[in-house]
Amino acid sequence: MKVLGIESSCDETGVAVYDTHIGGAAGLRAHAVYSQIALHAEYGGVVPELASRDHVRKLLPLIRQTLAEAGLGMGDIDGVAYTAGPGLVGALLVGAGVARSLAWALDVPAIGVHHMEGHLLAPLIEDDAPQPPFVALLVSGGHTQLVAVDAIGQYRLLGETLDDAAGEAFDKTAKMMGLPYPGGPQLAKLAESGTPGVFKFSRPMTDRPGLDFSFSGLKTQVLLAWKGSDQSAQTRADIARGFEDAVVDTLAIKCARALDAAGCGTLIVAGGVGANKRLRAKLTEMCERRGGRACFPRPALCTDNGAMIAYAGALRLVAGQHEDATIRAVPRWDM
Ligand code: KG4
Ligand code: ZN
Repeated sequence: MKVLGIESSCDETGVAVYDTHIGGAAGLRAHAVYSQIALHAEYGGVVPELASRDHVRKLLPLIRQTLAEAGLGMGDIDGVAYTAGPGLVGALLVGAGVARSLAWALDVPAIGVHHMEGHLLAPLIEDDAPQPPFVALLVSGGHTQLVAVDAIGQYRLLGETLDDAAGEAFDKTAKMMGLPYPGGPQLAKLAESGTPGVFKFSRPMTDRPGLDFSFSGLKTQVLLAWKGSDQSAQTRADIARGFEDAVVDTLAIKCARALDAAGCGTLIVAGGVGANKRLRAKLTEMCERRGGRACFPRPALCTDNGAMIAYAGALRLVAGQHEDATIRAVPRWDM
């Protein structure tokens, strides 16, 4: 089955074709992402109305481009998957409306996918991917969750953030230190020239049992350190490094606990923060020390993309799941 995937939940228009007959990483015949970063940069965050309008402008050209790259015509598509939520409702409606209309015109099934399930399944696109059971760490701009994956579609929430998501903490901290939007990757880059240990921030909620997270206090600690410092370029880098180490250590401690709780050796990591180099190195080392393994999608499939939606939708469509022709857009939705 050749499934067209469409992602438009926030500020990235993503399109992909996943071919289940080929499978594995090669099954991803083509994928393209158009990022709206430049459009929102001057506002310091995503402006929902501008996001929707830009999805309208970019989606059809991106579908044409992706099909051409895959060497396919519109008529070769056997199914369409789209992000049905959670996300910005106007942005979701653009993807859902286009997906449903295409499916209707081509007389093929369409299916709405949960954005976080898309993220969760992205590591499985890669060759040598693990099969469940495993523990998944979902770390994006809107979510920080530890999930026990007993089987595809069978998810148990083990822990989640009580306030800011890890990506949100990166973004807010970066903004506070005057870094341009989007802050997460900028802060990570700055941290590369920082010295570890010069600024030591707490590892929130690791001093007590449990698998929940809290990152909002960390932001305040950084603000106080930043305000009380000389604010030189090196100090900024040292603070960035201190912050990144605190987030990475906290995530690693909780992941180890979650693996213990689930009696599992394999951890998969997904979502935008999964692109963070230090997090990838730390979790790889932690899992290997325990005799297990940590699996990540390539960085381009950590952040929002159409490939994860094509893949998640393909698994469901191949399993014979169908939906009626309703255009689904669900802004708030538990996985
Ligand atoms: O999954 P994603 O693309 O969108 C959501 O569904 O939220 O994640 C975006 C988040 C942003 O908060 C961004 O700052 C963060 O992922 N992010 C990073 C890095 N790359 C993206 N955070 C830390 N280090 C990175 N290298
Ligand atoms: Zn996402």
